[in-house]
Amino acid sequence: MKANSTDRHHIDARRVDLFDIAPIDWEDIEQAATITQRILRDFAADKACFRELLKVVPDDPYLWSKCEEDVVEDKIVLWDDVEKNLRIRLRMSTARQERLAHSHRFSFSNLVLRGRYIHWHYAATDSFDARTRLDDVVTVAQHEDKAGDCFTIHHDALHSTPFTEVGTVSLVLRGNPVKDRAPVMFKESRGREEALRGLRDSQTTQSVDIEPAVAEAGTVFYRVGEKDESAQRRSERQMTRDKFNYWFKQLEDWQII
Ligand SMILES: [Fe+2]
Repeated sequence: MKANSTDRHHIDARRVDLFDIAPIDWEDIEQAATITQRILRDFAADKACFRELLKVVPDDPYLWSKCEEDVVEDKIVLWDDVEKNLRIRLRMSTARQERLAHSHRFSFSNLVLRGRYIHWHYAATDSFDARTRLDDVVTVAQHEDKAGDCFTIHHDALHSTPFTEVGTVSLVLRGNPVKDRAPVMFKESRGREEALRGLRDSQTTQSVDIEPAVAEAGTVFYRVGEKDESAQRRSERQMTRDKFNYWFKQLEDWQII
C-alpha cells in the first residue's frame, strides 16, 4: 500500500526506533503476535514516547481525521505506517457494550491498559454474513482480559470483547485493512423494550453499514472503513478537541502516559 506525503508527515517528523521494523506479515499470525505484542508492551512502558506521540495528534490532519467518538468507545490514532502494516491506536470505552460477534477488516493485537472485559470467541456453523441466524453462531471460548493482558487475532476469527465498565482502555496495533467491510451480529439486544418495539413498527430501514443505536439479537450490520463513509458520517464521528483534552487528562491521571 502506498501513502502520500501528508499521510506520512507524522512518521517523517519523528523517529521512533520501536516502529522501525520490517513490514509486518499479518498472514503469519504467530510471528505477527510475537512482533506486535512486544512492540505494544515496549511502547506502553515508554511513557515519554507515548505521551509525545499522543500530544501532537490533534495537530496532524491525517491522524486527527481518524480519531473518532463512537457509540460505545472513543478512538485516538497515534501512528499509521501503511508501508509497515502498523497502525497504533487507543480505544477507550464510554458505555457498557452488548455482545457483538464480529470479524474484522484487519488483523490486530490488543493490550489492555486499564479495566477489564469478557472475551468471547465464536464459530459460525456455516458462513457469517447478513443471512446468518443467531443460533448458527456458537460460543467456543470465553475468558476475562484485564490490564496487562494481550492477544492477537486474525481478521477472519469471530469474537466479541464487550465492555463491562466505562473507562476500559486498550492499546491496539493493527494491520492495513484487507477487506472493505466486516460483519457484526448482535448476540444480545441493544436498547429498551419500547425502543425495540418502535424499531419493529418502523417502516424506515437503517443502512446496514452503520452501527444501530437500537437492535434486536440477531441483527447484523457491517463495519466499513473511513473511505466508505459519507462526509457527514465522518464529521459526526470526528473527535472534538474538548474530548481529546478530556482523554489526555484521564490518561495522565490513570498514569498511562
Ligand atoms: Fe473485535
